[in-house]
Order: sequence, then C-alpha cells, then structure tokens
Amino acid sequence: MESATQAERSKQQLMAAIAPEVEKIEQVMRHDLQETLAGADPLLVEILDYGIFNGGKRLRPLLVVLASRLCGFSSDSIYGLAIAFEYLHAATLFHDDVIDRADMRRGKPSVNKQFGEVAAILGGDFLHSRSMLLVGKYVGARGLTIFCNATNAMVDGEFLQLRNARNSNLSIDDYYSVVRGKTALLLAATCEIGALAAGATSRQQEVLQQYGLGLGTAFQIIDDLLDYQGDAGKTGKAVGNDFQEEKMTLPLILALQNAGDEERKRLLFLLEDEEARKNGFEEASALIAKNNGFSLSRSQAEELVADALAGLESFSDASSLPFVTILHALASYVLSREK
Ligand code: IPE
Ligand code: IPE
Ligand code: MG
Ligand code: MG
Repeated sequence: MESATQAERSKQQLMAAIAPEVEKIEQVMRHDLQETLAGADPLLVEILDYGIFNGGKRLRPLLVVLASRLCGFSSDSIYGLAIAFEYLHAATLFHDDVIDRADMRRGKPSVNKQFGEVAAILGGDFLHSRSMLLVGKYVGARGLTIFCNATNAMVDGEFLQLRNARNSNLSIDDYYSVVRGKTALLLAATCEIGALAAGATSRQQEVLQQYGLGLGTAFQIIDDLLDYQGDAGKTGKAVGNDFQEEKMTLPLILALQNAGDEERKRLLFLLEDEEARKNGFEEASALIAKNNGFSLSRSQAEELVADALAGLESFSDASSLPFVTILHALASYVLSREK
C-alpha cells in the first residue's frame, strides 16, 4: 500500500476510534424511530429514512457522547440523549435546504427536491419535536434551556444572514454573529449538554461549551470554504450554492476588503448581476483566491481551533486523556475535512 501521510494516518486513527460510537448512534436512532413512528404516516417514515440514514458525519451526537465520557459518564443512556442532536440537526438541514433552495444533500437530491417543500417542512417539524422530547426526558429543564437557546440562536442567525445577503459591506463581526447563531451554538450545546448529563462541574460545562463554540465556528468557516473549493462528489452538496444565493461568507468578505478598486468592482458585479452570477463562479473564485480570501479564512479557522483546544488543558487527569486526544483529532479533522 502507498505510504499515507501523517495527516491521513491521524484521520484514519480518529475514524477507527469513533466508528463504534457512530455505529451505536445509528442503531439507537433506527430503534428510536422505529418505535416512535409506529402508526405514523408512511410518507413521514419514508422521508425520515431518506433524510437521516444517508451518510451524515454524526458530529453533533458524537460530541454529546465524547463530552460526557470526558466528564466520567459511562452509561449507555447517553446515546438516547445524543440522537436528539442529530434529529435537530437533520430538521435544520431539511428546512435549510428549503431556505437555501438547495437541491443536493449528502450526495443525493435533498429532501425538498425529492419529496417537495411541504414534506421537508413537516419532516423537520417532527424531528424538532422528537428531539425536544428526548432532551427533556434525559436532562430536564436545564438541558432544554441550553437546547432551546441554541435553536433560537439558529433562527436569529438565519434571519441575520437573510437580511445581509447581497450586503457587500458586511463586516467580519456580523459574519461571525451569523455563524455563531446558525452553527456554532449548536455544537457548543452538544458539548455542554454532554457535560451536564455527566453531572460535571459548571466549570467543566463552561470549558466544553467554549470548545464547541470554537470548533463550531471553525466548522462553518470550512463549510463556507468547501462551498467554493470543495468537490461536490465528496461534500455531497452543490459547489457554488452560497455564491448563487449571494451569501456573504468569509472568503468573499475578506477578498472584497483586500481587493483594489477594479477587482472589487468586478467581484461585486459578478455577485450582483443575475446573468453574470450564473456564469461567473469560476472567475469570482479566482478573484477571491488572488485577494487571499481563502487562505485568510483558513487561517482564522486554524486560530479558532487552536484556542478551542487550549481550553481543554484543564482536563489533565489520566482518565481524561483518551477523550482529550479524540477531541484534538476531531478538531484537526474539522480543519482538513473534505466532506
Ligand atoms: C452541515 O453540517 C450544515 C452546517 C452547519 C455547515 P454537516 O457538515 O455536519 O452535515 P452532515 O450531517 O455531515 O451531512
Ligand atoms: C448551515 O449553513 C445552516 C444550518 C443551520 C443548517 P449552510 O447553509 O452553509 O449549510 P449547508 O452548506 O447548506 O450544509
Ligand atoms: Mg444551506
Ligand atoms: Mg454551506
């Protein structure tokens, strides 16, 4: 076999370490849905099977499990709580693809494309409701507060993003407000709830919440990079969708800030003129690259991950080590991921 690079080896080690957890998450979701959906409309059953069991990374439930284990929780009951976060995530993806008019998700037609918008909305509603029930069951009102705050923030983030589509003067701070709301607070909530379920100290909950926040922010920056530079065969999503939707993501904001007058004008024309936008993605990408939009975005993601990891140093006892190691590897994976 060809010798793998160090990064590839680390990724393989990470995947081997998390594979049993991911498998368990899949099993518990299947079992839970089978029970909950007994007697449900067959179309709902079909939509959920299609929209959930299709190769998602399962990052959010995985973080719930890892955070709880890091805080010394060994019970299998954590999976029942963890799946709530995949349900909420899937619900937001169903709805997000309606909002973003996205046709591809996880390498297949999105739920809205396959079954229509009504199906995507109702399927998402069901999952949202089921996820809240599970969170209430396992971690009560405190857990629901964390969970609902993250959900409310997501709505806020989406509104802010919507209001700022085409706003070519969007500040970097506003971009980060969008990302914090729509993505990072949910990852922060997964870590915080894992710690809460484990009965961890409030200091430990706070440290893990901060880790999730940094990781989640970097995660969305990389998602935004992949929307320009990714391979649709790997991401399972169309490349260039953010540009077509005139989303002001970090690579674009940074490039607009750095470009000279002429290139800035050209980039804005490609973005704002409907005809130019349809055929202008390659040219816009080249202008973003030339003005360091991609490389600077990546550096920002790297800094966020480094800060997130620094906070984990407070978990220093021997029993924490295996989980801290996995959280480190996961953070590196977030930076190097291609899907
Ligand atoms: C996609 O999330 C939505 C974002 C917050 C960028 P993931 O990249 O985790 O999607 P799946 O679950 O693996 O498909
Ligand atoms: C994630 O943002 C928003 C969610 C809350 C799901 P994106 O719109 O960039 O996610 P993708 O690229 O469609 O997965
Ligand atoms: Mg989207
Ligand atoms: Mg995206």
